[in-house]
Amino acid sequence: MPNTEYYNDRVVRQFLLAAAVWGIVGMGVGVLAAAQLAWPLFNFDTAWLTFSRIRPDHTFGVIFAFGGSALMGTCYYVVQRTGHARLAFPGLAEFTFWGWQLICVLAMVTMPLGITQSKEYAEPEWWIDVLIAVVWVAFGIVFFGSLARRRIRHIYVANWYYGAFIIAVGLLHIVNNLAIPVSMWKSYPIYSGVVDAMVQWWYGHNAVAFFLTAGFLGMMYYFVPRQAQQPLWSYRFSIVNFWALISVYMWAGSHHLMYTALPDWVQSVGMAFSLVLLMPSWGSAANGLMTFNGSWPRLKTDPAAKFMVLALVFYAGSTFEGSMMAVKTVNSLSHYTDWTVAHVHNGALGWVAMITIGSLYAMAPRALGRPAMYSRRLMEWHFWLHVFGVVLYVGSMWVAGVTEGVMWRATLPDGSLKYPFIDSLLAIQPAYWTRWVAGVVILSGMVLMAWNLWRTAEDARARLIKPIPVPVPEPDPHQVPQPLPGLA
Ligand code: HEM
Ligand code: HEM
Repeated sequence: MPNTEYYNDRVVRQFLLAAAVWGIVGMGVGVLAAAQLAWPLFNFDTAWLTFSRIRPDHTFGVIFAFGGSALMGTCYYVVQRTGHARLAFPGLAEFTFWGWQLICVLAMVTMPLGITQSKEYAEPEWWIDVLIAVVWVAFGIVFFGSLARRRIRHIYVANWYYGAFIIAVGLLHIVNNLAIPVSMWKSYPIYSGVVDAMVQWWYGHNAVAFFLTAGFLGMMYYFVPRQAQQPLWSYRFSIVNFWALISVYMWAGSHHLMYTALPDWVQSVGMAFSLVLLMPSWGSAANGLMTFNGSWPRLKTDPAAKFMVLALVFYAGSTFEGSMMAVKTVNSLSHYTDWTVAHVHNGALGWVAMITIGSLYAMAPRALGRPAMYSRRLMEWHFWLHVFGVVLYVGSMWVAGVTEGVMWRATLPDGSLKYPFIDSLLAIQPAYWTRWVAGVVILSGMVLMAWNLWRTAEDARARLIKPIPVPVPEPDPHQVPQPLPGLA
């Protein structure tokens, strides 16, 4: 029996399609935000289109809509394959798909209208938060229910990462969003002052840890050995890294609040744990890369594998950069500058987007019951456009960030600032133009991916949207009834 019939891949295909669409929407909004920073006229003098309203739409769109759909889809795919069992609670799984899409649409519409809690990466108002909690619990029930049905005794490591991602994100979301509603459109957090800041960055940092890292590591641990056609380089090492990662990440959030009113020792704890965090991060990156040992020639013919290898390189690079930025003296230069934006996209476009794209290319033909993607040439084009775009994006923001940092701290002998703030903005303008070009290049790659997926899905789509009628021969009253072909 083909895999697509044995496993419940309907919901996987739906999330796959949603990820491709949200990828274009989220990055499209990122390109608009980049244009607004380079040329203010793109704010169109319209309240709901200004940068401040568009920016959270971009971050929500790429992290939760694009990343979230890809994570939920691959999670459902992986838990079935590694447990040799069909998804538990298919109705609830379908509910998680429609529920998540509704949440994404509501968040993306309300934020530009100014309906927001003003907490970074947790902007949606209280009633959307309640919906998120409901869908998330349902997601957990489907995932852990499917694990319980598994027919393989061992729980493969990818599921450990997906499980940690589901539990931790649920916890973070609920604690950080505790608020008192005063109307449908407004609520106030129950925390205040520095406690609010610490809870917010405990959440914000661990959203990076468990949403943008642990979840995608789950993806990596399944799809990398699959695509390299080799067993994981060291299974034991993957488990060690799992426990190290989840026990260290939770303590590093205060590196977002260096030189603030937060007690100094809390800032130092954040810095120390951020340095230790490099070990499990590089551990997973090395494990993934070493899995390709013996399979390197595949990179010549398999663009999905190329995406995965570079994703791991960017994962190693961005985590090294993050650990360095958590050192207080480095942070005093990088904080508030575009260096942070460079680091974010190093991780987001280099690691998160590339491992997602590689995994979607690996999963799509299998989930759609097709031998391969529609066009390998389009995959190659996507790869080179994406790599070129990311290098241009991150490079330009590094230049902008260091320029800003150095100009802001330059002083004259009398102690006054050497440069007025506007000079630093004028100095980085070319970098903003370059970042916009990079965004357009990356976005065109995403459009190619969506087209390629659409063509690959053509057969499956016909079956999904409009079931193909099986021709039933007209009964001939003069003949003895014959059994239908295939039913004998
Ligand atoms: C076409 C690709 C992309 C473009 C052009 C783009 C552009 C931008 C721009 C202009 C900003 C605002 C920077 C600022 O406030 O100064 C931003 C912020 C951000 N973007 Fe993107 N982005 C892209 C892809 C992504 C992806 C794929 C992700 C995540 C998976 C992502 C995550 C973020 C985050 C987390 C921030 C907030 C950064 C911070 O607060 O330091 N972006 N992006
Ligand atoms: C060892 C791993 C990592 C460490 C120690 C780390 C550390 C840091 C530090 C020190 C900052 C700057 C805080 C500031 O000055 O405001 C930062 C910002 C950020 N990092 Fe990382 N990072 C790591 C990995 C990653 C990865 C892999 C991603 C994305 C996939 C990521 C996403 C972000 C985001 C979104 C921000 C910006 C938050 C904001 O201000 O809005 N980080 N990180």
